[in-house]
Amino acid sequence: MARETLIIGNWKMNKTISEAIDFMDTIRQEMGKTTRGVALCVPFTAISTVSVMAKEMNMPIGAQNISEHDHGAYTGEVSAEMCRDAGADFTLIGHSERRKYFGETSELTCVKIGRAINHNLAPILCVGESLEDRENNQSERVIAEQLEEGLKGFEAGELGRLIIAYEPVWAIGTGKVASVEVIEEMHHFIRDLLSARFSAEFAKATRILYGGSVKPSNIASIIALEDVDGALVGGASLEAKSLVQLTLTVGTTR
Ligand code: PGA
Repeated sequence: MARETLIIGNWKMNKTISEAIDFMDTIRQEMGKTTRGVALCVPFTAISTVSVMAKEMNMPIGAQNISEHDHGAYTGEVSAEMCRDAGADFTLIGHSERRKYFGETSELTCVKIGRAINHNLAPILCVGESLEDRENNQSERVIAEQLEEGLKGFEAGELGRLIIAYEPVWAIGTGKVASVEVIEEMHHFIRDLLSARFSAEFAKATRILYGGSVKPSNIASIIALEDVDGALVGGASLEAKSLVQLTLTVGTTR
């Protein structure tokens, strides 16, 4: 089965509900119902409003994080069930900003993947090496550890909707996009790991997205790579027209 290309916008901590509505209105005007292959991760506060608008356009909506707990006395946390209830279809897990600023470990990402699956949210596991790791030739070791720990104990059958996002930390929000050689090499490495850990079929069916300073001007060469199945886009997803541009470019490239 061919892997369908997916562009996911990640708004991070941006946009009020009214700004989100304006954004979705522009997407509707520009793309109508042709949003196949585009999804958005929005702040918790906007999930319910945006998901209602997105449904008419067949656009999946995701959370950017979920709690590792199901419910209880965890002030300030939001559970997988709450996100699902608000209208989310998927969630990011272990984004590098969560790992860096909130101390999320690979062990924690593993627990969160379980929560997401239990509540019918497709998990998008984000992995990526730091600049220091790359300079010390540790990229593959770090990615292998993040995948091994993050997916510990799961069977392929439970992870049917899993997506991996490879996002080198040094390329996120820096304007420094990884070279196509690095991207292809790392995506290939990740697919080989999935094959060894699960099966060749599972590896072949699992989408691996690239993230890190993707924008309309550089997406074509990235998306053309064999092992790249889409992109996770931060900054360039904040303007509706830029997200439309990214999608159109992908549509004509693949
Ligand atoms: P960026 O962010 O596109 O702004 O580099 C990517 C991400 O954090 O997912």
